[in-house]
Amino acid sequence: MYMEEINNYIQQHKDRFVNELIDLLKLPSISADSAFSQDVIETAKAVEQALKQAGCDHTEICETKGYPVVYGEKLIDPNLPTVLVYGHYDVQPPDPMELWESPPFEPVIKETSLHPDGAIFARGACDDKGQMYMHVKALEFMVAHNQLPCNVKFMIEGEEEVGSDSLADFLEGHKDKLKNDIILISDTGMMANDVPSITTGLRGLSYVEVEVTGPNRDLHSGIYGGAVPNPINVLSKMIASLHDENNHITIPGFYDKVEEVSDEERAEMAKAPFSIEEYKKALDINDVYGEKGYTTPERYSIRPTLDVNGIWGGYTGEGAKTVIASKAYAKISMRLVPHQDPDEITDLFAKHFESIAPKGVKVKVAPHHGGLPYVTNMDSTGYKAAAKAYETTFGQTPIPERTGGSIPIVALFEQVLGSKTILMGFGLDSDAIHSPNEHFGIWNYLKGIETIPYFYKYYTELSKG
Ligand code: BES
Ligand code: MN
Ligand code: MN
Repeated sequence: MYMEEINNYIQQHKDRFVNELIDLLKLPSISADSAFSQDVIETAKAVEQALKQAGCDHTEICETKGYPVVYGEKLIDPNLPTVLVYGHYDVQPPDPMELWESPPFEPVIKETSLHPDGAIFARGACDDKGQMYMHVKALEFMVAHNQLPCNVKFMIEGEEEVGSDSLADFLEGHKDKLKNDIILISDTGMMANDVPSITTGLRGLSYVEVEVTGPNRDLHSGIYGGAVPNPINVLSKMIASLHDENNHITIPGFYDKVEEVSDEERAEMAKAPFSIEEYKKALDINDVYGEKGYTTPERYSIRPTLDVNGIWGGYTGEGAKTVIASKAYAKISMRLVPHQDPDEITDLFAKHFESIAPKGVKVKVAPHHGGLPYVTNMDSTGYKAAAKAYETTFGQTPIPERTGGSIPIVALFEQVLGSKTILMGFGLDSDAIHSPNEHFGIWNYLKGIETIPYFYKYYTELSKG
């Protein structure tokens, strides 16, 4: 009966669900680029409207030091549990623009081999507007059919892609308003459309920018070349030394607090379906690369990393200019695993990086945002409710999976509000989040809308004990 109701509702309204999402995707809410600040604010307003229309009794746009948080609630009974839905309405910059097959903020629907029912191509389609909007439409269904079994609150932020800087203060200042029994987020992925999975862990993050200065001005690379420290050469060497021949990170103390996953757990992880051949093929690489002693899924989930995200300096324009630059720069991210602390790691990095600089250069290390890792417990009511929801709509038990990405707010939720988070992601790794041609399968979008109401139902039932 319930199943029929949801499926009929989705069948009847799916075109509208898709069109509403397309309208939201047309707004370029790029939080990293201040040229788009007005668009980010417009997007917050659009999200508030959507929450109102879906059936929230109260909505508001809450100012923060940065972009606003959109809040909405429908509270039906103080004796029932409260689910807090978190998502983000901001998106990553679309660059490099020339690699998009259609403009990032002019959504189009195209079929792909993994999405034979079509996928919506636009920046934010999967991360996170599409996944956030599934929750709005799931609420719409539950309210329209008088099927909301518990209280619900929404907190949709606009600064996730730039590190959620204002959110710690926001949580501290609104503890009562945000009070909940469980937090529900769709901002991760699943293994495949026929292999549902629930994300049980996120990596933390320490992100730094480094600057290496050589001579006080750019120099002729013939007159001075060979006799002065070239900051680009030096920086490259310094970066190369951060991994040893086994691809272990060489920063002293970096691994001190790393939680070594037990052999049992590693054996459990190894049972999850994963094809190295398909992995290589999808990325067009002839071989994988990484820390000795660990499998590819371990390397991208339970092990910490250090990666250069950008590097620049000197002449990069057309043709050749003979020059030794005065400065070189790099942006470096370190993904962290349980018990590693982002501030501590940033300090270790800075000390080490300064210590390996040759005398002839000056080095500056500036920290950007960071975030703590997170792991959740499969014995919790929240996990069980989510697993049951997937079993109902996919006909299969979901596989628990620790992912390599980060959502720093999740650890903050636990610290400040004392709440655990359930991560029900419906995107695929191949959906190209943060890349050109990001997309979200329409099947995945509708499957999310179908599965979410069951989470509410089972969570409420299981909470009654
Ligand atoms: N939704 C992603 C995180 C994610 C994606 C986790 C897929 C797991 C699977 C989120 O929007 C994101 O991009 N986070 C950033 C961190 C943030 C501090 C900029 C990240 O992981 O790089
Ligand atoms: Mn996201
Ligand atoms: Mn993202």
